[in-house]
Amino acid sequence: MAMAKSVLAPPVLIFALFCSYYAASMASAQAAASSSDGFLRCLSASIPSQLVFTQSSPSFTTLLKSSIRNPKFFTPSIVRPLYIVTPTNASHAQDAVLCGRQNGMRLRVRSGGHDYEGLSYRSERPEAFAVLDLSNLRAVRVDLQTSTAWVDSGATLGELYYAVGKASNVLGFPAGLCPTVGVGGHFSGGGFGMLLRKYGLAIDNVLDAVLVDARGRLLSKNTMGSDVFWAIRGGGGESFGVVLSWQVRLVPVPATVAVFNVPVPASQGAVDVVTRWQQVAPALPDDLFIRVLVQQQTANFQSLFLGTCDALLPVMGSRFPELGLNRSSCKEMTWIQSVPYIYLGSGSTVEDLLNRTTSASVFSSGYKATSDYVRQAIPRDVWANIFSRLAQPNAGLMILDPYGAQISTVPESATPFPHRAGVLYNIQYMNFWPMAGGGDGAVQTKWVRDLYAFMAPYVSSNPREAYFNYRDLDLGENVVVGNVSSYQAGMVWGHKYFKDNYQRLAVAKSQIDPDDYFRNEQSIPPLANSN
Ligand SMILES: Cc1cc2nc3c(=O)[nH]c(=O)nc-3n(C[C@H](O)[C@H](O)[C@H](O)COP(=O)(O)OP(=O)(O)OC[C@H]3O[C@@H](n4cnc5c(N)ncnc54)[C@H](O)[C@@H]3O)c2cc1C
Ligand SMILES: *[C@@H]1O[C@H](CO)[C@@H](O)[C@H](O)[C@H]1NC(C)=O
Ligand SMILES: *[C@@H]1O[C@H](CO)[C@@H](O)[C@H](O)[C@H]1NC(C)=O
Ligand SMILES: *[C@@H]1O[C@H](CO)[C@@H](O)[C@H](O)[C@H]1NC(C)=O
Ligand SMILES: *[C@@H]1O[C@H](CO)[C@@H](O)[C@H](O)[C@H]1NC(C)=O
Repeated sequence: MAMAKSVLAPPVLIFALFCSYYAASMASAQAAASSSDGFLRCLSASIPSQLVFTQSSPSFTTLLKSSIRNPKFFTPSIVRPLYIVTPTNASHAQDAVLCGRQNGMRLRVRSGGHDYEGLSYRSERPEAFAVLDLSNLRAVRVDLQTSTAWVDSGATLGELYYAVGKASNVLGFPAGLCPTVGVGGHFSGGGFGMLLRKYGLAIDNVLDAVLVDARGRLLSKNTMGSDVFWAIRGGGGESFGVVLSWQVRLVPVPATVAVFNVPVPASQGAVDVVTRWQQVAPALPDDLFIRVLVQQQTANFQSLFLGTCDALLPVMGSRFPELGLNRSSCKEMTWIQSVPYIYLGSGSTVEDLLNRTTSASVFSSGYKATSDYVRQAIPRDVWANIFSRLAQPNAGLMILDPYGAQISTVPESATPFPHRAGVLYNIQYMNFWPMAGGGDGAVQTKWVRDLYAFMAPYVSSNPREAYFNYRDLDLGENVVVGNVSSYQAGMVWGHKYFKDNYQRLAVAKSQIDPDDYFRNEQSIPPLANSN
């Protein structure tokens, strides 16, 4: 087979390296006005002191920064945690919750730190809180007998994929593309990637989980109650407690898969090919996934096929001839090799999946993102308009992920994630700006908001659906009434992420955390205490 040229064209690279860490200059630490000695004293009884960090600990800032992926939330005006607790076993996590409750110290749970709004390590409102950072809890145990695995929340997707790939070359797992994303937050909000049409979301393949609830109890599927077990699989992080680990079903993949990345510039008909893609991609055989990254004036068609190039080419010839895929653009490899190849570029290796801080430099960029769901193909003239917006100065990018096949066969109420039958594709809008020199991203943020406003007539409505894991506080924020988040106020954002599942999520919340101890700006409010 002929070698493909470098799979990633330069425009794609900007996004691909976006999973990397950043090394911006450090802002001065906020004054620690702690009236919370009780919390520390309580922790010291059960958690080794080297696992607890205060704002005056020498390594506090390095640790806080270690998994911040959006540096706009690392400026002096950001409300930071008073403490960071880094449990190394389950009882530490239980004790942190108990000590937090006894001393009025809320916890924000952080796994991989990729939250788009930084809610795992910062608060919009001034409040005293501690971060429970799970990065030490990251074991992955694969059981080949049952084709299952237990994965701790602090593991990254890359660590999960690596362990699966080491154990077998015919097993995989359907979750997101970026290897540094944390399992804890990702699974909590759904989780999708290149295998979504064949095997659905990450949470469609979760069999069991271990949860620390607001009373410090360690619960499993059989003891947390069916509503809560339903809720933690897609109902969003932070709301129901701390999920420490997940048991997942691994999925079969062939020993050889095929990947391609075909860039189509606007000058060579990108508007027509994207317009056509909308109808083709969600209806393809479930073995074939073709997403589109539109950036500058190029649509990059990025694909994973569960089979060989020999099998793929005739399918492309009959179903999507407009793309003009030929043998030289098709590359064969194992599934585990395809993961870094697609996301990190053709020069990367399987070992790079273990690097929690891949590729430096780029991550001095702040970003703004939001999402939509498309249920009816968008007309060609609208796409022409979108391309002109992507040509503006300081424009961002769009990522289109096709749905259909398995993700759509699951009923809307089977999991909290409701964007199923009838969805053609998900859109993610993003824009970046350099933080150096004090860039505030106002122009880039406005670009995203303007495009989102422009798109309203062409995307889902009533509610205008959005993907929880592409969190956007523009969609609404909780209002706290009487020390509990308001169910009514939460509907504004809750229906967009969860449609009619919002209510059942609130019922589950009232079962497991009626006092609303675990909360943030977009956590599920309890229904029983609604106001
Ligand atoms: C570069 C990049 C690429 C991405 N690619 C994809 C993709 O391909 N597909 C996709 O579906 N999504 C993708 N995402 C979105 C990603 O799924 C979400 O941002 C996800 O929530 C990140 O999980 P985390 O553990 O890294 O984040 P965190 O910031 O650690 O957590 C996110 C939220 O979940 C809560 N939380 C974290 N851990 C736990 C836990 N153990 N128990 C309870 N609550 C918890 C946090 O408090 C926070 O509210 C991407 C994000 C980035 C930044
Ligand atoms: C967790 O570690 C502590 C020591 O810090 C130990 O006392 C405790 O027994 C451990 N708990 C578990 C469940 O392993
Ligand atoms: C608010 O709720 C938190 C967590 O449940 C609790 O610790 C705190 O005491 C409550 N505050 C008031 C004023 O009731
Ligand atoms: C194959 O496709 C690539 C782009 O996808 C193109 O550059 C090349 O000319 C094509 N080769 C043939 C033989 O058509
Ligand atoms: C991880 O990636 C960074 C940036 O590319 C690199 O500097 C570092 O050496 C890598 N670490 C390992 C262990 O490969």
